[in-house]
Amino acid sequence: MKTRVRKAVLPVAGLGTRFLPATKCMPKEMLPVVDKPLIQYAIEEAEAAGIEQFMLITGRGKNLLEDHFDHAFELERTLELRGRLKELEMVRDFPEPSKIQYMRQQQALGLGHAIWCARDFVRDEPFAVILPDDMVLAETGCLSQMMEAYAEVGGNVVAVGEVPREHTNRYGILDVESDDGRIAKARGVVEKPAPEDAPSTLSVIGRYILQPDIFAHLDKKQKGAGGEIQLTDAIAATLGTVPLHGLRYQGQRFDCGSKAGFVAANVAYALAREDMEKDVRLAIMELLK
Ligand code: G1P
Repeated sequence: MKTRVRKAVLPVAGLGTRFLPATKCMPKEMLPVVDKPLIQYAIEEAEAAGIEQFMLITGRGKNLLEDHFDHAFELERTLELRGRLKELEMVRDFPEPSKIQYMRQQQALGLGHAIWCARDFVRDEPFAVILPDDMVLAETGCLSQMMEAYAEVGGNVVAVGEVPREHTNRYGILDVESDDGRIAKARGVVEKPAPEDAPSTLSVIGRYILQPDIFAHLDKKQKGAGGEIQLTDAIAATLGTVPLHGLRYQGQRFDCGSKAGFVAANVAYALAREDMEKDVRLAIMELLK
């Protein structure tokens, strides 16, 4: 089995109902944090981690995502004629042509089903999954940190963080066998357990490095929590043959699937930018007066 992680799958078929009316005609992955859409942060993080091929699992109404990563001839020509080289650099060929493929999920049957749609793209290689809603502001990108952990432990690796017990029903939760404070070895993983049933409070965030073995389980199309085909269940099903580790990543995570998380991400990413930090800090202080 190959070990280098070259491919990433990004599920982007969700309707984004929590952000209506903004997402009525615009994919939620196009929502900007400061001046860049969520999807671009995800692709940049993956590229920085060495990913060479991307598959976006899309659905109806997601065409703007394809336009965003396409050559925008008129725009580029106009910027070139006006000598706006910095802006030109921002919109030109990212990522390089032919690195992204698109696949429509067709039916919203769950995250596991979305990943299953990428089986012929992944084939027999380990691959990464990024959920663009989850942003991690970090010096070294979250997926790069996971690649390091993966080089140490192999198998399936997920990014994890502690959550309050009353929130376990929002996440995949690890059943921890051993834990060195950085990497936790799991003997199980459960999707969205009730607080009283949760085996721990160590929750999976939207970054995975997975072995293709999960497809054998996803092929069965078994429904799990919420009546959906769950990625978590496929990871749990391969535990006998593929070890699972959770990496406590360094960085600040934002749940951009929620409005408060999205607003917080905008503030944090702006404050982290040299060109904006001062003005944004002043504006916030003014607001909080
Ligand atoms: C998905 C996964 C869940 C994970 C979460 C991270 O849930 O099913 O295991 O903890 O992403 O954001 P969703 O947020 O799509 O309900």
